[in-house]
Formats: sequence, structure tokens, C-alpha cells
Amino acid sequence: KIGRKFFVGGNWKCNGTVDEVKKIVNLLNGAADIPPKDKVDVVISPPFVFLSQVKSSLRPDLSVAAQNAWVQKGGAFTGEISAEMLVNLGIPWVILGHSERRLLLKESNEFVADKVAYALSQGIKVIACIGETLEQRESGQALKIIAEQAKAIAAKVSDWNNVVLAYEPVWAIGTGKVATPAQAQEVHADLRKWLKTNVSPKVAESARIIYGGSVSGANCVELAGQPDVDGFLVGGASLKPEFTDIIKAGL
Ligand code: G3P
Repeated sequence: KIGRKFFVGGNWKCNGTVDEVKKIVNLLNGAADIPPKDKVDVVISPPFVFLSQVKSSLRPDLSVAAQNAWVQKGGAFTGEISAEMLVNLGIPWVILGHSERRLLLKESNEFVADKVAYALSQGIKVIACIGETLEQRESGQALKIIAEQAKAIAAKVSDWNNVVLAYEPVWAIGTGKVATPAQAQEVHADLRKWLKTNVSPKVAESARIIYGGSVSGANCVELAGQPDVDGFLVGGASLKPEFTDIIKAGL
């Protein structure tokens, strides 16, 4: 994993109150054992309404991500948040293509890719999510689906230093049914092979591929030990004290 710094994202999804946000930020700010920034990238992703609160209260060695951004320049798009606004607020990262948005809001591969392109064009770094459903896995289509998702995104990326790929099998998200380390490794290795063939050997070596789906304090160390797992995108457990254990899993 030489050259690929461990990356841990905390996706709070649609959770939290002002008081709960304060508590989690205080917990992180008080955690003495979080490794330094040159060892691990930690990126916290609260809902939009708490971005300012988190940004202004979180310790400076931890970073902040939005959970979505609009596909083009802001304007008459009621309910949307533009990449320009995130830049204005000093938010360096955005999560795009999360399966909850792909499935519930019908975001297509092309729409996600266009969002990735626009965020990158504004200087925002992207955590780009891909992953198959249980049905797709059981019908033997997992790799085909993931490759299609990756292909749409890769077509819009010129600098992979600004993109982290998050493999999140839908069947493992919020289910407690984590992918086994071998299952995660298999897909991550395939994705890296895909990058080697379709982007470049150099990008395949350096691009970070992180795993998401029921990651917890109990399973993170074994997953992090897999050669092609470069970190995590954590949902439920990112709201709990065990998140600090997950941050340390790659060391
Ligand atoms: O983006 C993180 C995610 O979808 C995984 O959620 O709750 O299974 O860790 P969870």
C-alpha cells in the first residue's frame, strides 16, 4: 500500500441534532490517539445543515465533506446545494454517487459522473461511491455493474489524486452484514485491475479504494489488513465512539 495513505470517511447520512453534533465533535476533538494527518486522512460528512457547525468546531487535522452537490453551477434549483457554496464554506470534499441516492433518487451512472466532473472542476475532492445490490451479486453481475459505474466516473476524472473510490456493496450497508475481508479484497483487487487496464498502471497503484458497508470497531482491523483496502467509508459506526478505533485500523 506504499504511497496510498489510509482514508477514513464518516458518513453521518441524514442523522443528528445540534446537540448530537456537538457531542460527536467533542468526542473527536478530545481523542488523543487519532494518528497524525500524514498517516491517515479523516473526513467527516455531516448533513448540509450542520456543515458550518462542524467545520467551525472540528479540530483542524480532520476534514469535512458534504454528502452531495448539484451537477452544475448554482441558480434556480430549489433544494439543491452547489459546489460553489461548498467552496465558499471551505468544504474540501464531497461524497457523490452513494447507493442511497442512486437507488432512492434514481441517480444514474451518467448523472453521478456529471456531478463528479462538476465538483472536480470547482476544486472539490470527491469520494465516489459504487457497488452492487444483492440481486446483482447473486446473479453474478457484481463485477459488470461495478465496472460500469467506475467507467462512467473514470471518463470524467483527469487527476485521480482528487478522487477516492468507495466500494460499498448495497447488501452490506446498514445491514450489519459486512463483506468478508476476502469478498472486499476480491472486488478491490478487480477494481484496481480495471484501473490498470482502463486508466493507467500508475493510477491503479496510487488510487485509494476504500470499503463501506457495516464497518465497525470489531471488523475494521481485519478488513484494513487486506492489500487493496485503503480505508473505509463508515455509516452507523461513525456516529459512535468506536469510530476512533476505525480511524486507527490501518496503522
Ligand atoms: O457511506 C457509508 C455507508 O453507506 C455504510 O453505512 O451504516 O453500513 O456503515 P453503514
